[in-house]
Amino acid sequence: MTIRYQTKNLAPWVDESALSAIAPQVVAASELLRSKKGPGSDFLGWYEPAKMVPAKEIQSIKDAAKRIQEQSEVLVTVGIGGSYLGARAVLEALPYDDADENGVTIDFAGQHISARDTEALLESLDDVEVAVNVISKSGTTTEPAIAFRILKAYMEERYGKEEAKSRIYATTDAKKGALRKLADEEGYQTFVIPDDVGGRYSVLSPVGLLPIAAAGFDIDALIGGAQAAYGTYGKTDDLFQNDCLRYAASRVALYRQGKSIEILSIFEPAFHYLVEWWKQLNGESEGKNRTGIFPAGCEFTTDLHSMGQWIQEGQRNVFETFLIEEKPLASISVPDTGEDLDGLKYLAGRELSEINNQAWKGVGLAHFDGGVPNSSIVVDTMDPVTMGNLIHFFERATGVSCYMQGVNPFDQPGVEAYKANMFALLGKPGFEKQAAALNARL
Ligand code: PA5
Repeated sequence: MTIRYQTKNLAPWVDESALSAIAPQVVAASELLRSKKGPGSDFLGWYEPAKMVPAKEIQSIKDAAKRIQEQSEVLVTVGIGGSYLGARAVLEALPYDDADENGVTIDFAGQHISARDTEALLESLDDVEVAVNVISKSGTTTEPAIAFRILKAYMEERYGKEEAKSRIYATTDAKKGALRKLADEEGYQTFVIPDDVGGRYSVLSPVGLLPIAAAGFDIDALIGGAQAAYGTYGKTDDLFQNDCLRYAASRVALYRQGKSIEILSIFEPAFHYLVEWWKQLNGESEGKNRTGIFPAGCEFTTDLHSMGQWIQEGQRNVFETFLIEEKPLASISVPDTGEDLDGLKYLAGRELSEINNQAWKGVGLAHFDGGVPNSSIVVDTMDPVTMGNLIHFFERATGVSCYMQGVNPFDQPGVEAYKANMFALLGKPGFEKQAAALNARL
């Protein structure tokens, strides 16, 4: 496995005896996941990555990706939440060197309702050939539906209705939802999001695979990496031999000591959306029944000059997990200018990656000394296999953590509340009573 989980800065909060005490609960949670008998077990399609998408569908994804590369320079993917974050996380974290030279640029829409951003996106499309991939499992989510309405009109006006059809791809449910109906009526090529895969666990389904393949990355390697992690972390429930389970156990043990915020801290800006994906994965899975770790993110060393103070000396209800790439492909060193006016001669000739790694180690010890337990998930170099490893590592750890805390990892009932209010305030038919009640409160 390309992932190493380092836990030196967790003791005394979580030491061998704390792990031994919690081990039976970890085993029970892991067994519940494996047995497919726990809450939400209808949504375990992601669990064995190589089985999630049939080989025929993988081939259609590759064929469509090739067609997208032939017909366009930019693919705009339209989606939100689980229909957006996974692809963006992978696309931004993988080094460009790993992508095929035919890969297209991927742009994103539908993940907000910003007029400024939407206008800027449309303006940026005018000078390039465009394809669109609209992604929604339910097929009824408002933000992507609005964005797609705008992009569909743009594509039809620019290319004419017939050609627009051949440039629009829809990823949605096999049978249900407004998007399925629209795609069938318009004759778009469609890809199916399996019934048993929920949004935030869907990056290795057509949701993520089509844009990732269109960008030129090796989706077999990605799935292979996740499948390898399935093998490794499925082999034993002994948390002293299983890094994924030890991570899940450690975070729950810390939570039970009042450490209710987990910060996933990175030293590589390219991992920004990996953190966003992880925040969604954990926030939507775990935040239920008035319980759950609050998943936060920091980007170091940048945030050491803003949030660093709080982490070092603020309320002690936080623990930290560093996600580290130790040997990035990129190599650049500090120039030797022959002078020392800036006091940096001692760094001349040293690699930025080495300096960044020392920053990580120094920060870990400083935060430990400040009362913040921390551990590190370390990879050598990010590539598609490693990314697949990581995706499965985090998904599995989330499932186990949730079962340890007695919550269903696979539903998200709480996200409906804002939607109902928004529909009511916008005057959606059927929401009249709620609209009157809300307007009286405004
Ligand atoms: O994880 C989830 O299920 C959610 O974040 C959804 O992915 C998100 O709400 C978008 O839903 P849909 O794909 O139905 O448009």
